[in-house]
Amino acid sequence: MKYTITTPLYYVNDKPHLGSSYTTIACDAIARFQRLKGNTVLFLTGVDEHGQKIERTAASKKLQPQLHCDEITRKYKYLWDKLNISYDRFVRTTSKEHTSLVHQFYSKVLKSDDIYMGRQSGWYCVGCEEYKDVDKNDKAPICSIHKKELEWRDEENLFFKLSKYQDQIEKLIQIDGFISPKSRKNEIINFVSKGLRDFSISRVNLRWGIDVPGNEDHTFYVWFDALLGYLSGSLSYQDSPELTNNSLTNWPANLHVIGKDILRFHAVYWPAMLLSAGMKPPISVFGHGFLTREGQKMGKSLGNVLDPIQLLEYGGIDAMRWYLLRDIEFGDDGDFQMRRFVDIVNSDLSNTIGNLLNRTITMSKKWFNNSIPIDNSSVVESPLKDLSELKINEYMESFMKNNFKNSANSIIDLANSANHYLNEQAPWKLIKDVSNKDIVARDIYSVLESCRIIAILLNPFVPNLSIRILNQLNIDSTLITFEKSLNWGLLNPSNGLNNPTPVMNKLEFNEDLFYE
Ligand code: MSP
Repeated sequence: MKYTITTPLYYVNDKPHLGSSYTTIACDAIARFQRLKGNTVLFLTGVDEHGQKIERTAASKKLQPQLHCDEITRKYKYLWDKLNISYDRFVRTTSKEHTSLVHQFYSKVLKSDDIYMGRQSGWYCVGCEEYKDVDKNDKAPICSIHKKELEWRDEENLFFKLSKYQDQIEKLIQIDGFISPKSRKNEIINFVSKGLRDFSISRVNLRWGIDVPGNEDHTFYVWFDALLGYLSGSLSYQDSPELTNNSLTNWPANLHVIGKDILRFHAVYWPAMLLSAGMKPPISVFGHGFLTREGQKMGKSLGNVLDPIQLLEYGGIDAMRWYLLRDIEFGDDGDFQMRRFVDIVNSDLSNTIGNLLNRTITMSKKWFNNSIPIDNSSVVESPLKDLSELKINEYMESFMKNNFKNSANSIIDLANSANHYLNEQAPWKLIKDVSNKDIVARDIYSVLESCRIIAILLNPFVPNLSIRILNQLNIDSTLITFEKSLNWGLLNPSNGLNNPTPVMNKLEFNEDLFYE
């Protein structure tokens, strides 16, 4: 089956931060999970390059907008590579392919008679690139998100007839699983029930955007342009983008993962635009929460922005990915805490999983001559076998609901139980009596088999660590799928093991790190 998943297309007004890394890591975990399930995944990410915010940022740096966009885009790609993000497509909204797609889409919406010229006046936030609902008498209102003064606008704009789609959108947002988590769904239902208003899709006096055919002094509103990036990035033929059935084989997207602040655009405006063009709306939209740092909103003025590159250099990719997915409830707001970061990574990855693998391989090598000690592996009965089946099921169920935290807990439960089992059995005592050799062999085998399963379950979370574990067990990681690899007893005794080296180094806590 095909599975299309997207991150938001990030604004290139600034370099990537921990929030954008968080969303992208979560999407990467989902993409990897779906591939392991045997699906053909299209994982799309990219950047949103137009609009006034970007135009102004470039001007403040005395750069041509395109040069500025190129520079920031490089930073995104660099970070995604460092984080081992397995994206298949990277959309740039300044590409000529995207421009062509936007024009084609616009002509479809025009044909549906969904565009008209109107006038819009109101308070605008350039940071949000959005008109804000504020009291008309308020003289200098402030954006609650950006804490900056809103700007008064009164201009001629093209409008999209969102109101025409009231009934269809009402039905869509009620569909089970379309909007998650539930609390967010209720917010949107509430918003839509107040009645949808048409929204403007063009701007005048803004050069840094895509031209509107037939209205040369207008450019497309950045959100109209950006949402279409999902379509241009998912077309089969990237070089000659055409909105035909043949090129739309990856559409509709199965899942748009976004932050809660932009849910309305994805769950209301975007589906209506697609319906207008005769296309299917996305299958689901997940609005996750915001990250704070040590209880405070991250912001440059507060001097507490956590630079993902610095965090990576300090903790490494596995630590960063694991902490964000394991400690923060996906969907709720989450707080990044350095102490917890260090404690969780050391406890889970280094002590619980790393040590388990290391000591078991060491015993196996010492007593069984560098090979996995069992003859007929598939019949090994062990309490760990039943437990692993249980934990695999729990893991799958949670993951399908994007509940990474619970999935991660299932992995750690299995690793804790394997450690416990080893301590109870104490093979280092049993081995002193030669007649116990078979029992010791069975114990070692079942712990190593648990490690193999743990490595596979870890794969979507921490692919690099997963591969290091599989390498020590002498398993080809490229052949792994859930269906073929999660049965008990697949570890092949005759293959031998590689030398035990710690798979995860411990982190040292340093409170003063990373305050910019
Ligand atoms: N360009 C638009 C998206 C267009 S999608 C067609 C945009 N870009 S953004 O760069 O400002 O934000 C991208 C995502 O980052 C949003 O989903 C936003 O919610 C998320 N985050 C921004 N700050 C964040 C945190 N502090 N924590 C978690 N996510 C955060 O909006």
